Amino acid sequence: MDLFEKLLQNRGPLGKHSKMAHGYLTFPKLEGEIGPYMEFKGKKILNWSLNNYLGLANHPEVRKVDADASAKFGLGYPMGARMMSGNSDYHEQLEAELSEFVGKEATYLLNFGYQGIMSAIDCLLDRHDVVVYDAESHACILDGLRMHIGKRFVFAHNDIAGLEKQLQRANKIVEETGGSIMVITEGVFGMSGNQGKLKEIVELKDRYSFRLLVDDAHGFGTMGKTGAGTGEAQGCQDGIDIYFSTFAKSMASIGAFISSDEQVIDYLRYNMRSQIFAKSLPMPLVIGALKRLELLRTKPELKDRLWEICTKLQSSLREKGFNIGTTSSPVTPVILKCDENQVAKLAIDLRENYRLFCSPVCYPVIPKGLIILRLIPTALHTESDIEITVKALEEIYVKLRNNEYISSEYAVL
Ligand SMILES: Cc1ncc(COP(=O)(O)O)c(C=O)c1O
Repeated sequence: MDLFEKLLQNRGPLGKHSKMAHGYLTFPKLEGEIGPYMEFKGKKILNWSLNNYLGLANHPEVRKVDADASAKFGLGYPMGARMMSGNSDYHEQLEAELSEFVGKEATYLLNFGYQGIMSAIDCLLDRHDVVVYDAESHACILDGLRMHIGKRFVFAHNDIAGLEKQLQRANKIVEETGGSIMVITEGVFGMSGNQGKLKEIVELKDRYSFRLLVDDAHGFGTMGKTGAGTGEAQGCQDGIDIYFSTFAKSMASIGAFISSDEQVIDYLRYNMRSQIFAKSLPMPLVIGALKRLELLRTKPELKDRLWEICTKLQSSLREKGFNIGTTSSPVTPVILKCDENQVAKLAIDLRENYRLFCSPVCYPVIPKGLIILRLIPTALHTESDIEITVKALEEIYVKLRNNEYISSEYAVL
């Protein structure tokens, strides 16, 4: 069969809805200044869908530094990959400051979190090694594992007994191959808001020999006393052997980093294909990240405010009887029973009549019969935004129970 014909016959679980959803439920355009109030299709909406946790995207100091660095260096500088011709003092300064902030010896900057962690997994492991990973790991971890040609074992989400069983299996294999074991989990899981059980995993090191890689995309800047992440929050940062985060969430930018022992980072510098064979981070992103990191360190009030809003939002939802699962982070999933044929109308009602914008998550990302309205609080939201939102969700809930959203027109989202 012709390749293009085949693609048209099966457009994929999300792609099959593209005609109905494109431009509205998928690929929507949010306009105006980034913040809790933006414009969607020409109308003001209250926005709970951006990972701008600390409100840095539009912070005046950040905007100024971004603009000044762009004016001075442009987006081209430095040209080439870090190893060849794309290094600078600023890149190294940012790495040194990140190392200090997350309490690791050394750091390597990555162009994007997604391809960065994939490439790190690929680089760190060979065919003799075994990976043991949490079942709810982010797509970038799963894609990294697709490149791993040795064994991999999955444990049920946050199931420490399950992890232990898999470690025993992994142990038997590495005894034969002479390889090593790496455990991979997340600091904060982006869909449920659950924290990975990092402390308990680290404690397993007393009995099993493995190294721990933690993707702390949602925890960096939001968790822990200083914002150094979920390891800090759980008092086990030292037990994380390889710490990864992106600049795409609390730093409100692009880029990522990986931190570990100096020798491990040196190994990555000289072996990591996504960095050796790709252009380094442009200077405005590096200088912009230095500024953001400075604000993270010097303005703890941003994180404190995020948590005030987060605690208020989550307690208000719980008081009204909403199921927000077991989140212990700012990620706030409102979990509703909702058939597939109700999802689209509900989401449209939310946007058109309540002027609320959040990301509806449904099958195939989560099981059939459920919908998650994922709310991401930020330091810029207010108590009044929370009141408006909880009231709207209560009304939506009643309509859902009265089957007002059943629609054949939008059979599925
Ligand atoms: C847990 C997690 N890891 C990695 C990434 C990818 O990071 P980036 O956006 O920098 O590619 C994301 C999403 O941004 C994420 O949520």
